Amino acid sequence: MKEKLLQMLNDAGGYVSGEKISRELGVTRSYIWKVIAKLKDEGYVISSVRNKGYRLEPASDKLDEASVRKGLTTASIGQHIVYLDNVDSTNEYAKNLDAPHGTVVIAEDQTMGKGRRGKSWVSQPGTGLWMTIYLKPSIKPQEIMQVTLISGMAVCKAIQQVTGCNAGIKWPNDIVINGKKVCGILTEMILEEQTIACAVTGIGININIPSFPQELSNRATSLLIETGKTFLRADIARAVFTYFEQYYTNMLDPENLPSLLSEYASMCINVGREVVATIGNQEIHGVAEGISPLGELLIKTPDGAVIPVTSGEVSIRGVYGYI
Ligand code: BTN
Repeated sequence: MKEKLLQMLNDAGGYVSGEKISRELGVTRSYIWKVIAKLKDEGYVISSVRNKGYRLEPASDKLDEASVRKGLTTASIGQHIVYLDNVDSTNEYAKNLDAPHGTVVIAEDQTMGKGRRGKSWVSQPGTGLWMTIYLKPSIKPQEIMQVTLISGMAVCKAIQQVTGCNAGIKWPNDIVINGKKVCGILTEMILEEQTIACAVTGIGININIPSFPQELSNRATSLLIETGKTFLRADIARAVFTYFEQYYTNMLDPENLPSLLSEYASMCINVGREVVATIGNQEIHGVAEGISPLGELLIKTPDGAVIPVTSGEVSIRGVYGYI
């Protein structure tokens, strides 16, 4: 009933009288009132005017808990939101939490956003999704790479679903559209006596950013630049939570690992391409063959050896300016 009423209000785009709703949905006026109250509880803004009826107000680009959880059907991911105007880094904030599994820290602005490999991450206020998912995974520390991989898969699918863009993953978890990075992901964990006390997956998605400084514009992009459209950040957050929860649940059963890895490989733009991995001052040149069960990138060198790469920077010919 909730869905039907929402659909009706959405389709109308203006006021719909209680009488019309009750006639078309076959329910009493007091029942409609109860359903409207439930929808309001979930965060929908519905105005009611005597003699006119009910109207669903257009959504605004807000990231507060009510806006993000509106219509969210996950069991845990995103069911608790810590929404901050400003923070140093959502990852740092999340690492100090003692919160339910799946809690998400979202900030409008980060003053010291962290990137991978000690780099910083620029988070333009109000234009992107800067958030961290707090997890209590029952996996071994050496399996944490799986969380990294599924985070990339979840963001990739969410972007594809909401925007229709052909997003791919550059190993291990940069999300790339048309050869430029639209999202970076940083997974960290806190260990206690060799077990994972908590893991945090920080996700930065460039959404409504109109342009980048010249030094970044050949490597970085946003969903606005790629599509010419702006997006509601909450819609993208919900899609990420939904896919993340599905992949996370699958990941916990080791039997699902082969199919997860082959799905990852199908989204990974490195596979089948010429790559260079830089590890310290060593460079490995070859063709990326696939992903190992530990999430390593397998590089086949010209002499036929297959080298698993776990860390370091991997460049792909033709992506981010690598020639
Ligand atoms: C990278 O590609 O280098 C990873 C970037 C990760 C950025 C996100 S933004 C939200 C979260 N908080 C941080 O400080 N970093 C991550």
